Amino acid sequence: VLDNRELRDEIKSLLIEKDAVLVAHYYTEDAIQELAEETGGIIADSLEMARFGAEHSAKTLVVAGVKFMGETSKILSPEKTVLMPTLEATCSLDIGCPEDEFSAFCDANPDRTVVVYANTSAAVKARADWVVTSAIALDVVQFLSDRGEKIIWAPDQHLGRYVQAQTGADMLLWDGACIVHEEFKAKGISDLKTIYPDAAVLVHPESPESVTQIADVVGSTSQLLNASKQMPNDTFIVATDRGIFYKMKQASPNKRFVEAPTAGSGATCRSCAHCPWMALNSLELLRNALRDSSGEIFVDEKVRVGALKPLHRMLDFNK
Ligand code: 13P
Ligand code: SF4
Repeated sequence: VLDNRELRDEIKSLLIEKDAVLVAHYYTEDAIQELAEETGGIIADSLEMARFGAEHSAKTLVVAGVKFMGETSKILSPEKTVLMPTLEATCSLDIGCPEDEFSAFCDANPDRTVVVYANTSAAVKARADWVVTSAIALDVVQFLSDRGEKIIWAPDQHLGRYVQAQTGADMLLWDGACIVHEEFKAKGISDLKTIYPDAAVLVHPESPESVTQIADVVGSTSQLLNASKQMPNDTFIVATDRGIFYKMKQASPNKRFVEAPTAGSGATCRSCAHCPWMALNSLELLRNALRDSSGEIFVDEKVRVGALKPLHRMLDFNK
C-alpha cells in the first residue's frame, strides 16, 4: 500500500505523462484539492469547472467531483478524454430527475422556457433551453423573467424557491432536493449565533428557505468563499459541504469557520455537511483513473449536441 506522498508523486508524473489537468470541486477531500493547486489545475464551483475544462489545452481532463461535472466537461470538449476517479459519484438531484418523467413534465407545459440546474444528466440538459449553476441562476432567471418568459425549473426545489423569491419570476418547480443541504436547520444556526453573536452566516441556496432567510450571504461555493475573504467578521457559520473549509481556512487562517448544524448531526447522520458521492473520490482512485484510463466519460453524440446548446447559452451569458 502506497502512502499519500507516494500516491501524490505518482499522480503528478501521470498528469504530465498523459497531458492531463486536474479539475476539482471544493467538496473533494483536502489532498485532492491540494494536488489540483500544486499541478496547475483548478479547485472551483461547478460553473468555473466547466469553463476551465473547456478552455484548457490539455488532452485529458481528470474531473474530481460528481458525474454531472464530468459529463458537462465531455459535452463541452468532445475531443478531450474526460476521466473521473469513480463513475459511481452521482447526485441526489440527478437521481431525482429522470429524463422520461422530466420530458413528460415539459411536454405538459409547452408554453414555458425550460431552465435546468447543472446537477442533472446530459439527457435532461438536452431537453432544456438553458442550463444554470447556482452562481448564475438568479441572473439568468431575472433576464428571462424581464423578457416576459414563464419558466419550468428543475430539479432543486429549494434553489428554485429562492430564485423565485428574489426575482418574482413565474416558475413551475420540480420537487428535487440535495440530501446534504436539505439537512441544514435554521433553529440550530440561530442557536449557534447565541454562541458566536458576531458570526456571519454563509448559505448555499440548495438549503431550505428557512435557512436562506437567516443568511447574511447566499451563494455558490465560490461566492461563499469570496464572502469569507471579503467580510470583516472573524467567525463564519457555513451551511454547505465542509469540503469548502479547506480553501476558506487557507485564505483566512485567522478566521473561525463553524459547520452549520443539521437535523441529525452526530453518529446517525451519513450525509450531514458532507456529500457521500463527493466523498467517493480518493487519491487512489484518481491515480487508477490516470494510470488505467478508467472512469472515462462517454456521452451519446445526439444527446451531447442537444445539451451543448443550453450549456453554451450559460457560458456565453456569463462572459
Ligand atoms: P456549486 O455550483 O456552488 O459549486 O454547487 C455544486 C453543488 O453540487 C452544490 O451542492
Ligand atoms: Fe448533489 Fe448535494 Fe452532493 Fe452537490 S452536495 S453533488 S447537490 S448531492
